[in-house]
Amino acid sequence: MLVLGIESSCDETGVALVEFDAASAEWPRLRAQGLHTQIDMHKAYGGVVPELASRDHIRRVVPLVRQVMEEGACTLLEVDVVAYTAGPGLAGALLVGAGAAQALAVSLGKPVVPVHHLEGHLLSPFLSADSPEFPFVALLVSGGHTQLMRVQGVGRYELLGESIDDAAGEAFDKCAKLIGLDYPGGAALSRLAQQGRAAAYAFPRPLMHSGDLDFSFAGLKTSVATQVRKLQGPQALGEDAGLTETERADVAASTQAAIVEVLVRKSVAALKQTGLKRLVVAGGVGANSVLRAHLNAACARLRTRVHYPELALCTDNGAMIALAAAMRLQSGVEQPMAAGAFEVKPRWPLVSG
Ligand code: KG4
Ligand code: ZN
Repeated sequence: MLVLGIESSCDETGVALVEFDAASAEWPRLRAQGLHTQIDMHKAYGGVVPELASRDHIRRVVPLVRQVMEEGACTLLEVDVVAYTAGPGLAGALLVGAGAAQALAVSLGKPVVPVHHLEGHLLSPFLSADSPEFPFVALLVSGGHTQLMRVQGVGRYELLGESIDDAAGEAFDKCAKLIGLDYPGGAALSRLAQQGRAAAYAFPRPLMHSGDLDFSFAGLKTSVATQVRKLQGPQALGEDAGLTETERADVAASTQAAIVEVLVRKSVAALKQTGLKRLVVAGGVGANSVLRAHLNAACARLRTRVHYPELALCTDNGAMIALAAAMRLQSGVEQPMAAGAFEVKPRWPLVSG
């Protein structure tokens, strides 16, 4: 079976082809993929501008489908199912991907599979060389979500805890902005942090000892903002004005240390609570090398296996959408739908607590 997947929930247009053998126990393989990121376009505004995002998805989606079909050395007639991100995300952006997928499916006479964006992230490590096995604890750390889940199988997810305010990626991005880094600042903050001291500033570790598996990162941002203003002095103009390079790097390293420590502690608590011996990390923040190093060390102590998506598949992409559809079909939790009518779900919980 050949699944064509389309992702357009936010600021990346992703298209990919994934194939699987319905009779085999082997999980699907990636045949080809293409991605266009809009980050440069949104940078000037300090965040994603939804209308610009939708328009750019319109420009990119068809050329990307052509590119992926060429790279995958097949024709559209060979595609069995068209998958697309149905939510959560920006309504206009989602509609572009959904519209393109439905139009393709109708014209080809093929069915569709609407996919939950977070399920795509969650299953993305199954495309890596070191693919996980069920069951496992999942730490989902994207720009919009921070969740811990018990995952028993495809479609069998139980929410253990989540952020009650900002997501970890959002905290990275907001703190990055405070020290003058462009949107989305997570990766840039992490690079700057390499030159800084993680213990320079004692930023709060919100809810770290709350006894549950929930997160909160809004207070951390406020604390970083207060520290930045203190370093600037009263006359400062602009976000990071007046900070030395050393101060910026120290703020970056201390911010990263606070976020990473909370994520690691809560992941360890989730492993202990569930008794599971496998951790799967997914979402954009999963690309963070300090987070990976600390999780690796903690999991080694617990004799627990830890799996990550390939670096290029941590942030949004079409491969994870095609994969999630393929895994749902292969494991029988989803039947393809007739193409035609569709709706997108900008707000759509994967599991409710
Ligand atoms: O999963 P994703 O592409 O977006 C959502 O579905 O929301 O994740 C994007 C997030 C952004 O907040 C970005 O700053 C963060 O992942 N991110 C990182 C790193 N790379 C991406 N955060 C920390 N360190 C990184 N290396
Ligand atoms: Zn995402």
